[in-house]
Formats: sequence, C-alpha cells, structure tokens
Amino acid sequence: MDTGNRPGTSYWDHRQARMVTYPKALAASGANSAQARAAAQRAAVAQDAEAFWEPHYASSQVGNGAPNAVLVDIVAGLAPGSALDLGCGQGGDSMWLARRGWDVTGVDVSATALHRVADLAADQGLSERVRVQQHDLSATFPQGTFDLVTASYFQSPVAMDRPTVLARAATAVAPGGMLLVVDHASVPPWSWADPDSVFPTPQQTLDGFRLDPGEWDVAIAEDRDRLAAGPGGQHATVTDTVIAVVRRAPTPTAAETRSAPPRRPGDRALKVSLDRHARH
Ligand SMILES: C[S@@+](CC[C@H](N)C(=O)[O-])C[C@H]1O[C@@H](n2cnc3c(N)ncnc32)[C@H](O)[C@@H]1O
Repeated sequence: MDTGNRPGTSYWDHRQARMVTYPKALAASGANSAQARAAAQRAAVAQDAEAFWEPHYASSQVGNGAPNAVLVDIVAGLAPGSALDLGCGQGGDSMWLARRGWDVTGVDVSATALHRVADLAADQGLSERVRVQQHDLSATFPQGTFDLVTASYFQSPVAMDRPTVLARAATAVAPGGMLLVVDHASVPPWSWADPDSVFPTPQQTLDGFRLDPGEWDVAIAEDRDRLAAGPGGQHATVTDTVIAVVRRAPTPTAAETRSAPPRRPGDRALKVSLDRHARH
C-alpha cells in the first residue's frame, strides 16, 4: 500500500487499525532510547504479536504498575463483578480491579507479562480474584461473558484486525455490562512513533465495534488530554480516545427493583454518572 508516508515515519493504518512504523525514523531520532528502537525494529520483522511482545516484556520490566487513570475514573463507581482485561500487559489494571473486588481475567499474548501478573496476584493474596489466559486475540478469544470488558492501550505495531477483536469483545459483555476502550490518540515527544501520526477519531473507533444501536448505549466517546511522564522524567500533554459503551439490560420487574438491585453499568444511577463524564 502506498501511504505517501516518508520512510521512517509512522501512520495509522485505518484498514488494519494499527500503527505502522518504518524503522529508519527510529535510527534517525537521537532522542529515542536504544530499547525503543530495538523494539520497533523487531516490530518491523515480527510475523506475529507474540514475536514482538514477548521479547518486549522479557527484556525488561515495563511501566510502573499503576492502573489507567481513565479506568479508575470510570470504574471506581461500579459495583464489582466479573472483568476481562484485554492486552493486560503486566496487570496494572487487572490488579487494581482485583483490589476493588472484581473477579478478573487478564489476557495477553505475552507469557512473561502474564507470569508477572500471576506473581503479583499471589504476592498480594489475590490469586483467587485474578486469572490469566494467554491468547493471540487475533486468533482466539476467552470464553464467557463479563460485566466489564476493558482494553487499555490495546494497540500494536504488529498487524491485527483490531475492529474485529473489539467487535468480538463487545459480544463478551454481559447484559448491563460495559465495554471500555482507552486508546492512545497522540504521540509524546519521547515515543519512537512519529509525532505526526494520524489516529482515528472517537467515532471511527466506535464504528469499528459494529454495535447494534438497539442494544447499546454510548456513555462516552471522546478524546481526553492527560499529562504523561516520559522515561527520563519529562512531561507532555497527550490525548487518549475514551469509549465506554453499555449493553442494555432487560428492564427489571417491580419486585426486582424493590429488592436492592446490584449497581451495574446499565443501571440508571450509574447511567447518570456516565452522562456526567460524557459532558466533559
Ligand atoms: C501498549 S500495551 C498495553 C498494556 C496494558 N494494557 C497497559 O495499559 O499498560 C499492549 C498490550 O497488548 C498486548 N497485545 C498486543 N497484541 C496482542 C494480541 N494480538 N493478542 C493479545 N495481546 C496482545 C501486548 O502484549 C501488550 O501487553
């Protein structure tokens, strides 16, 4: 495909819904770390997701283990239930959910990342609440339905039909449950990706889920800015795309309403609080 991009730049491939990066730019940028360059160069030759992500995790500890701030903001008000964390990495989100009482299944293509999640859960006495499953989500998907399906920065330079994976993720949301997707929508100066990368709009991302409008409510579909910290302690404002959609639950009977219903994403009280988020 001729994208019109210079060798050495990155662009968002709308058809494959992935960042595509040409390695030459990485070598040209003195600001980028050798590790990031090596990772991106591996991406250029990787045949599959595991070939890229397993060395990424095996070569170092990645990240600081903190949960995604958007996840915390949106999910803190929900009563815990079952959760599926797609592309969980080293489990910052999974562990936060488990500490809040959620019964979590963390999924990733990297066995090393999943071992770290399992070890963390054991260290914190949360093994009963955290299970891990290794999947290349392009090929296989966990069984079952969940009250919350979440995907934080489930983005990869390796070819992936992400819209199809996220459409499959929507089918794993239980009635009354939520699908929450938080994506990078800009590139910080320290990233190996090109700062001129073009990302899909929230609406384009949402359209990729192929949701039946009769079955889903869109609680949030917007870009949000945040202050990001780089590996050298530097800071920059970056943008995330945030999509939260709620699968409608069957209308409860009067008797069910009287008997202290659990507070799930589809509940009216919660809907009000999500609407509040949507106005931000
Ligand atoms: C950018 S990281 C985000 C990790 C974590 N959710 C976070 O927010 O820190 C993307 C994650 O998705 C995983 N991943 C990428 N492609 C995948 C695939 N095809 N199947 C399963 N996991 C995948 C990677 O291993 C990696 O852990």
